[in-house]
Amino acid sequence: MSQAPDPRELYDRVGGHETFVALVRGFYEGVATDEPLRALYPEEDLAPAQERLLLFLEQYFGGPRTYSERRGHPRLRLRHMPFAVSPDMRRRWMAHMLASLDRLDIGAEDKALMAEYFDRAATMLVNTTDDGPAPGLPEGVQL
Ligand code: HEM
Repeated sequence: MSQAPDPRELYDRVGGHETFVALVRGFYEGVATDEPLRALYPEEDLAPAQERLLLFLEQYFGGPRTYSERRGHPRLRLRHMPFAVSPDMRRRWMAHMLASLDRLDIGAEDKALMAEYFDRAATMLVNTTDDGPAPGLPEGVQL
């Protein structure tokens, strides 16, 4: 019987930094072409957002802990409150991430593990209805 692979060891198994760079680059190439999704990102330059997602995913999957050193606790749901993450935006986000994931030359089991995590995390981050407003940060919260 094979044991279920541990997502925290995935970083090394799939090729470390290079693989995560390719995943996140491919994802943001998709975001850049997707007008409604692109409009959610406040900065004109997507590179800083790309770097934050890269560092977060590297840390989550067992790589360097640089994300937390720079940003503190991830608090992802809170950090998404300024943005209207509707079911439609979730669907768009997932489509670009799964397309990029699919292009990676890594094992099918690891792809499935990553896809499952993205699906779960993206569901957790939905915070409004289609065309609904962003909830905004709760009063007094600073990130
Ligand atoms: C459900 C659809 C999602 C949408 C529409 C969305 C949108 C956004 C937007 C607009 C930002 C701000 C860009 C910036 O960093 O300046 C952001 C940040 C971020 N998102 Fe998402 N996101 C989604 C799902 C996810 C998921 C599933 C993850 C993790 C697996 C994630 C991880 C992050 C991270 C790490 C940041 C940067 C947080 C920080 O340190 O400030 N997002 N997202």
